[in-house]
Amino acid sequence: MRILTGIQSSGKPHLGNILGAIMPAIELSKKAGNESFLFIADLHTLTSLRDGEQIRANTLSIAAAWLAFGFDTEKNFFYRQSKLASYHTEIMWYLNCVTPYPMLANAHSFKDKSTQIANVNAGLFTYPVLQAADIVLYDAQLIPVGKDQRQHIEMTRDMAGAFNRMADKDIFVIPEAYINESVMTIPGIDGNKMSKSLNNYIDIFLPEKDLLKQIKKIESDSTPLEDPKDPDNDITFKLYQLIATPEQTAEMRQNYLAGGYGYGHAKQALHSLMLEYFKEAREKFDYYMNNPAIIEEKLEIGERKVEPIAAATLARVREVFKF
Ligand code: ADP
Ligand code: TRP
Repeated sequence: MRILTGIQSSGKPHLGNILGAIMPAIELSKKAGNESFLFIADLHTLTSLRDGEQIRANTLSIAAAWLAFGFDTEKNFFYRQSKLASYHTEIMWYLNCVTPYPMLANAHSFKDKSTQIANVNAGLFTYPVLQAADIVLYDAQLIPVGKDQRQHIEMTRDMAGAFNRMADKDIFVIPEAYINESVMTIPGIDGNKMSKSLNNYIDIFLPEKDLLKQIKKIESDSTPLEDPKDPDNDITFKLYQLIATPEQTAEMRQNYLAGGYGYGHAKQALHSLMLEYFKEAREKFDYYMNNPAIIEEKLEIGERKVEPIAAATLARVREVFKF
């Protein structure tokens, strides 16, 4: 199986990216017979962030996160989309020309983002077409993503199918989304979808004390300490449940229901659990962040490795138009 997924370099990697995309993608990449394309979607980043220094810093930390969770860059493919920009954007153009305008106008992510921000650029509108190009360029079959990306993968299937029908030939592989339903959408500290752009995220790589500060900002209701609390409506509990063992979750549920256990206690417990659960990843992340040359080298090797694959697909596509 050929696995592919990308993460934008619009901020630091957060718990939502890690549980929703990074960990499932790495798990898939370890299965025998699978090869994975994990990349940094830094062209997509430009729809929201245009500061080169910031993009560079975010790229390093996203790459360090992939490596910290054990991505094997020798067996697989690890690269920045921008370093293969000419391939990605050329395929994007061909897909643009088979994509019905209403499909893009109806995309949830476009509708959401275009109401949230003041300056809506055309890049936001054609974002799903670039994403589809990222996928078909490498003949990817399985796309591990968080639930919020389901529609983008559906659109990719539609675009690839439309292109194949137009060409009357199976030029593109039709990919499938791989979504871990049990993880669903990770809530941020305010209960909305955790997102870099909403500034409601938890950065698991922060130093211990700063991580605790961030966890303490998780919103909770005003139920007094001694009263019983509803675990299923509490953000701290939801986050705890995502990384705890079933036994730990059952015990925490009991604490909530019994009363005499405050949200502050639950937050301390979440902090300790995160430090324990992510211990190795935190150490490795620091190592890579302190050695950016190692990250750069791994990316450059990956970029050289993917280029012939991109070139072969593009040649196949150009042949359709006798270009
Ligand atoms: P962000 O929304 O923070 O900008 P990206 O759009 O770069 O993050 O998302 C990268 C990957 O992480 C995608 O596969 C996306 O589905 C996943 N992801 C992002 N936020 C969440 C979340 N809150 N819950 C689950 N998965 C998420
Ligand atoms: N749009 C994805 C996100 O915001 C990032 C992305 C870009 C991606 N290209 C991709 C994900 C290709 C999977 C496959 O989460």
